[in-house]
Amino acid sequence: MRCVPVNAPSGQYQVKIGAGLLPSVGREVTACTKARRCAVVAGENVFPLYGETVLESLRSAGLEAMPMVIPAGEQTKCLQRYGELLTFLAENRFTRSDCIVALGGGVTGDLSGFTAATYQRGIPYVQVPTTLLAAVDSSVGGKTAIDLPQGKNQVGAFYQPALVLCDTDTLSTLPERELKAGYAEVIKYAVLGDPALFKTLQRGNADLPAVIETCVRCKADIVAEDEQDLGRRRLLNLGHTFGHAVESRSAYSLLHGEAVAIGMAMICRAAEKNGMLSASDRDAVISLLHATGLPTETDFSAVELYDTLLLDKKYSGGKLHLIVPCAIGECRIVPVSPDELRGWLEKGF
Ligand code: NAD
Ligand code: GLY
Repeated sequence: MRCVPVNAPSGQYQVKIGAGLLPSVGREVTACTKARRCAVVAGENVFPLYGETVLESLRSAGLEAMPMVIPAGEQTKCLQRYGELLTFLAENRFTRSDCIVALGGGVTGDLSGFTAATYQRGIPYVQVPTTLLAAVDSSVGGKTAIDLPQGKNQVGAFYQPALVLCDTDTLSTLPERELKAGYAEVIKYAVLGDPALFKTLQRGNADLPAVIETCVRCKADIVAEDEQDLGRRRLLNLGHTFGHAVESRSAYSLLHGEAVAIGMAMICRAAEKNGMLSASDRDAVISLLHATGLPTETDFSAVELYDTLLLDKKYSGGKLHLIVPCAIGECRIVPVSPDELRGWLEKGF
């Protein structure tokens, strides 16, 4: 088993990565919390595959374990499901020491984490990621959120989990498209700061647990320094500024990782045109995205994407921080005005 410590200012915990970890979730939960009850929140696709193993493990460890199955898809990160989850905890008399186990991808993790952050002003939660994206990104670092009709992740909290338990066996049932989407975030880490990882991915024979550990170490390092996303953590948004606009315009028919891949390709093109990135590094990133089976182009126009970006409350007014690659393994945070943003967007095509 691989173990990565996360030393965030508001909470320290371990990310455990390896095959066959799911049956130990009960023991792990009792080791890192004082819970007597656990709500196992899992998506409708994930629960039939892994729910019973998790419930049984928790019960064998002496915990009362209750399943809460939620619909799959981004629409589940909403006020209604959040309310249902709070009601479920209250009706089952969960106390501040009881625990939520989030079994699934980023949707389950973000919703469960936000519920944990706010129910009785905060109860422990454990992330059990079952998608590659959740394993390398969303389960680590304590960003929790739900969406509003007005925009994605508009309500949330920084709230660290008590543990992240990543059983890499669960990735074997992940649909191919979801696995590829997760690789977009892996490529992001490589472009951000790890040329060796980039080369490994180019060779195409990456050892997945090792890759997950590398990404988690990178994220843990960043989160320890900038938990609240005020400086260096912004680097993790590489590909996300334009990516979010594409994702939102597509009405979520594009997966998060697919949109991030398009966003990364766009910022590489724009960085090259602005003289910040070599043409060969731009081509290498775009080729790797292609080779991974990810999209790199969008049919939405620069005008459409710009309008979407301006509507997003996180971006309106003031300066927006664009993450710009300067080389494979090196990115810069570039503050841009709305007018400058338009220029960058146009060069992304
Ligand atoms: P997801 O949670 O929607 O899961 C993808 C799909 O795969 C779902 O249909 C799910 O039911 C299914 N699935 C999950 N695990 C499976 C398995 N092992 N076998 C079979 N099917 C499985 O998508 P995601 O890509 O994991 O997460 C995307 C979400 O994460 C977005 O809402 C995004 O905003 C969020 N996110 C959050 C952070 C953060 O730091 N909190 C970072 C990145 C992304
Ligand atoms: N996924 C971006 C972050 O955690 O900051």
